Amino acid sequence: MHAFLSVAWVLVAITVVHAAQCGRIQWGPCEAALTSLTNGTIECATLPVPLDYTQPNSSSVLNLELLRVPAATESQGSIILNFGGPGVVNRRTFAGAATDLPPLISLTHDLVTFDSRGTGNTLPFRCFESPEEQAQITAQEPDIWETLTLPTVWSNASNVEIGRRWAAGTAIAERCFEVSEDIGDLLGTAFVARDIMQVVEALDEDGMLRYWGQSYGTALGATVAAMFPDKIDRMVIDGVLNPREYFNTFEFERLASADSAFTAFFEGCVSRPDNCALVVSNVTNTTAEDLEHRVWDLIYHIRFNPIAFDGRLIDYQFLKFGILSSLYNQASFPALAAGFAALLAGDLAGFVRVWDPIIADFPGTANEQLAAIACSDRSARASSLEELMPVVERKYALSQVFGDLLPALDTVCAQWKFQAKERYEGTFEKETNFPILVIGNFADAQTPLVSAQNVSQGFSNSVLLQLNGVGHTSFAHISGCVINATLTYFENGTLPEPDTVCEPEAPLFAVPFTEASAVGATLKMH
Ligand SMILES: *[C@@H]1O[C@H](CO)[C@@H](O)[C@H](O)[C@H]1NC(C)=O
Ligand SMILES: *[C@@H]1O[C@H](CO)[C@@H](O)[C@H](O)[C@H]1NC(C)=O
Ligand SMILES: *[C@@H]1O[C@H](CO)[C@@H](O)[C@H](O)[C@H]1NC(C)=O
Ligand SMILES: *[C@@H]1O[C@H](CO)[C@@H](O)[C@H](O)[C@H]1NC(C)=O
Ligand SMILES: *[C@@H]1O[C@H](CO)[C@@H](O)[C@H](O)[C@H]1NC(C)=O
Ligand SMILES: *[C@@H]1O[C@H](CO)[C@@H](O)[C@H](O)[C@H]1NC(C)=O
Ligand SMILES: *[C@@H]1O[C@H](CO)[C@@H](O)[C@H](O)[C@H]1NC(C)=O
Ligand SMILES: *[C@@H]1O[C@H](CO)[C@@H](O)[C@H](O)[C@H]1NC(C)=O
Repeated sequence: MHAFLSVAWVLVAITVVHAAQCGRIQWGPCEAALTSLTNGTIECATLPVPLDYTQPNSSSVLNLELLRVPAATESQGSIILNFGGPGVVNRRTFAGAATDLPPLISLTHDLVTFDSRGTGNTLPFRCFESPEEQAQITAQEPDIWETLTLPTVWSNASNVEIGRRWAAGTAIAERCFEVSEDIGDLLGTAFVARDIMQVVEALDEDGMLRYWGQSYGTALGATVAAMFPDKIDRMVIDGVLNPREYFNTFEFERLASADSAFTAFFEGCVSRPDNCALVVSNVTNTTAEDLEHRVWDLIYHIRFNPIAFDGRLIDYQFLKFGILSSLYNQASFPALAAGFAALLAGDLAGFVRVWDPIIADFPGTANEQLAAIACSDRSARASSLEELMPVVERKYALSQVFGDLLPALDTVCAQWKFQAKERYEGTFEKETNFPILVIGNFADAQTPLVSAQNVSQGFSNSVLLQLNGVGHTSFAHISGCVINATLTYFENGTLPEPDTVCEPEAPLFAVPFTEASAVGATLKMH
């Protein structure tokens, strides 16, 4: 952590209060690594904030790295954005979308984001001293490290997997603690909420927060709203996590819509059979239910009979990873159907041509940073595999499709040695200065509508906007109705009528899958 020590532990003689008052932000050009991601206008700045909010007299600061896209017209103020994870590197994500996002959120506000503690160059959380050490150790013990190094690990891939993950979790928790002991408890959502308020004060506008967050960014949003209800001018949270579950449990509610999202895929398929390869390939000619049965039979057949093809393994994990990636956004449903159809027909070359790009599209984040933030935020622990097993079994029972996704990370979190120095333990039943706009999809496999309803009920003056769609967050569809609601909320403070349901512009399977697009995407991978 020496690089970190020299860069971030800059000692300056200011207190918390002074840091805020003096910290006017000087916007300037961004580094090349960011400007190369966009043709839009982006500006960058750094802002010193207290390193440890539990030490009000300490002069240690953390330099937050900020990025903004200025308003297209005269600015009505800044909106702070968070893209979730936890662990997403916000500046990189936003720079890459700097021309796409403003018209969806607001053209009349400056849009601002910063890399949260633990991510990017901001207190980067590591379980290895160097990339070389990481390469060496993960090559020596790939089985241990796959919980962090693979994008997804499926704990029910075999009946011995969960025990192996538990043992690996012991080793991972120990090593991450040793390597990042000096920073591990300075990460976490409550501190990031305070960082947000530091940015708000340093922006020197009206001292009020305007915020937009998706996915984990909703847990952060709910936390900052609960901690600073009087400072909320506008807040949109979209694809909502139940924050009480996030902080206090192994998170069960998250699975509430996973299976219904997968079922919606089959229903969409039979409703527009001309655009669904699972139907037109004559694999079957029946109901969504029949199609789903066939696909599950295929998945469980492959689980015991993986196929070697072209130097790779087509196995249970590979199939489930493709399903996970596709359920983020219904635009990939025709490809998902084409993949299943090819595999059912024994066309292995056709299958991997479709599946590789599906997987390459996976929007997941680095597990090291995800664990660092989510495990440190979470209070739930287990002292043995035996103690964790009821959690695992409950997840398996809650969802066939994703019930065995999160337990691998749970084995790490259950044994995690850090606890965030500050955890928000108060209520999420609050009335904010201005009502929050809460957005939820009917079938979101990552963040179910019940969680959006829960958070909206807690923030008593908030309004819940439902999108009659499938996928993770309202970005899973194009919906003029949601975009209009967001723009008028930020620009004019107009809230949609309670119980408004927006429809997507196009139904599921509106366009057919074409192999040309898949081949193009495959090439991008290499
Ligand atoms: C930027 O513009 C150039 C020229 O129009 C184009 O080739 C390139 O793909 C654009 N890059 C991004 C990130 O939009
Ligand atoms: C911080 O400093 C003030 C003023 O010197 C002192 O009164 C207070 O006890 C200190 N607080 C802590 C937590 O050390
Ligand atoms: C589907 O069935 C029709 C009628 O039997 C046949 O003409 C067509 O070739 C079949 N398509 C495939 C992909 O098997
Ligand atoms: C497929 O289903 C349609 C509608 O139920 C039916 O008319 C047709 O005969 C079926 N075809 C086959 C091959 O079973
Ligand atoms: C886990 O594996 C068991 C045994 O094969 C199977 O019965 C069960 O359906 C699986 N559950 C999940 C969620 O994968
Ligand atoms: C919201 O969720 C929490 C924790 O899961 C639960 O205790 C609470 O009763 C729920 N609130 C509502 C209004 O459903
Ligand atoms: C906000 O209100 C103004 C004045 O009524 C109107 O011209 C503008 O279109 C509204 N903005 C949006 C995004 O609806
Ligand atoms: C946009 O949203 C506002 C506020 O909810 C509503 O009054 C208006 O009718 C909507 N406009 C369109 C075109 O949907």
